[in-house]
Amino acid sequence: MNSHTTTSKFIHWTFSLLYAYGIFKQVDELEQLEDASLLNSEIVFAVAFLVIVSIRYFYMKGTPTLLGAHDEMRKGHLFIAKTVHRLVYFSLIMLPTTGLLIAALISFDIPGMRIAIALHELSASLSYIVIAIHIGASLYSRLKGEGIWNAMVPIWQEKGRVNSDLLSRLESLEDKTYDKIEDIFSPK
Ligand code: HEM
Ligand code: HEM
Repeated sequence: MNSHTTTSKFIHWTFSLLYAYGIFKQVDELEQLEDASLLNSEIVFAVAFLVIVSIRYFYMKGTPTLLGAHDEMRKGHLFIAKTVHRLVYFSLIMLPTTGLLIAALISFDIPGMRIAIALHELSASLSYIVIAIHIGASLYSRLKGEGIWNAMVPIWQEKGRVNSDLLSRLESLEDKTYDKIEDIFSPK
């Protein structure tokens, strides 16, 4: 059975903690950054976050998506999973980058702060949405017993498919969605 490497799991879970920390300790308002030591520690955090997320991206680049699946995954399924993973990375890069933009505007007294803050908040909102979809999809896959959960999550391991009518109905909806996606990208 395929599993993600120990390093991949380690990066996934320590990075999730770093993200949670970043969200919880967030700056509430611009005025707080008049405190130079807070501004400096935000900059250090943002740079570290950016470096770690880049290392992770390049480390994971060669790893197949939905690696743990027992059965061959449909192209439409892989397309959606890859798209969500890319959007997660995009939001995780935009968050510290727009944070650093705010810091630069403060330090060099350049105008445009409202736009920078709007972009920062947009990046935060995007990260909430795509990570919620990501966790929802992982839970859904766990119900289906596909093996994907077990390959990345060390706890509460799945033991096969949960039988339910609702799940079967969701699966047929899922199949139709994949048909549509596959038609768009490789029409017969
Ligand atoms: C309860 C929380 C979470 C669960 C259950 C979960 C579950 C999973 C699973 C099962 C995979 C493997 C998918 C595959 O094999 O293709 C995965 C990969 C991934 N997860 Fe999560 N995840 C969680 C939280 C997070 C968070 C908070 C982030 C971002 C900060 C994140 C970002 C990613 C990314 C980018 C991947 C793709 C592989 C990689 O580049 O590391 N996940 N996750
Ligand atoms: C990885 C680094 C960072 C993360 C994860 C992060 C995260 C967040 C989040 C989640 C919010 C709340 C957004 C919302 O209202 O939806 C926020 C707000 C804010 N952040 Fe960051 N941030 C980071 C770096 C920075 C940096 C480097 C600065 C500037 C030095 C900064 C300045 C601000 C400011 C001024 C606000 C408040 C915006 C307002 O007035 O509503 N952030 N940040």
